[in-house]
Amino acid sequence: MKITITGIAALVLLLSFTINDTQLIYPGYFPEPQYNFTKNPLDSSTIELGRNLFYSPVLSSNNTISCASCHSPYNAFSHTDHQLSHGIHDQVGTRNAPALFNLAWQKKFMWDGSINHLDMQPLAALSHPKEMGETIQSVVKKLNASAYYRNFFTRHLPTVLLRGKKY
Ligand code: HEC
Repeated sequence: MKITITGIAALVLLLSFTINDTQLIYPGYFPEPQYNFTKNPLDSSTIELGRNLFYSPVLSSNNTISCASCHSPYNAFSHTDHQLSHGIHDQVGTRNAPALFNLAWQKKFMWDGSINHLDMQPLAALSHPKEMGETIQSVVKKLNASAYYRNFFTRHLPTVLLRGKKY
């Protein structure tokens, strides 16, 4: 059984907007989003999975750090009380975690614009040795070993399993 983390992308796209089931609602004076939703359509199950994984330490190698450890919802999804972000084993990174909002309208990500596709962004944190220090292969194993996530995918995301969608 193949399990992927597609939901994370859906979640970060939606952090600053009202979710009306599967519709992205934004002000009329906004331009069209940069993100191509045809390849990763919004649906409530994917969004729920993304929200769940965003707050879950399962994405880090020692199961202690989640996306929200550095992107705290209390601080507009940034890490305001720390100059530099902290990852696994109390390691301190070289940059501060930026606030996350309006990401569907961004063409580039990171302070230096080094990432040019939102779907790739979670992999950067996940694989960074000082942030989450994990691999996708290991995350897939952990998710498969979890009765909770197996059940979640089987019940809510059977189409993702069938498509075997992966990055
Ligand atoms: C250990 C702290 C840490 C963790 C954990 C972390 N991030 Fe980040 N995040 C950062 C830092 C630091 C940057 C800026 C890095 C840079 O510019 O080099 C960043 C940048 C980003 C950006 C780019 C924002 C922009 O406006 O360019 C996104 C999106 C993002 N993170 C999402 C995530 C997601 C999703 C996860 C979980 C899979 C995650 N982050 C986990 C610290 C973290």
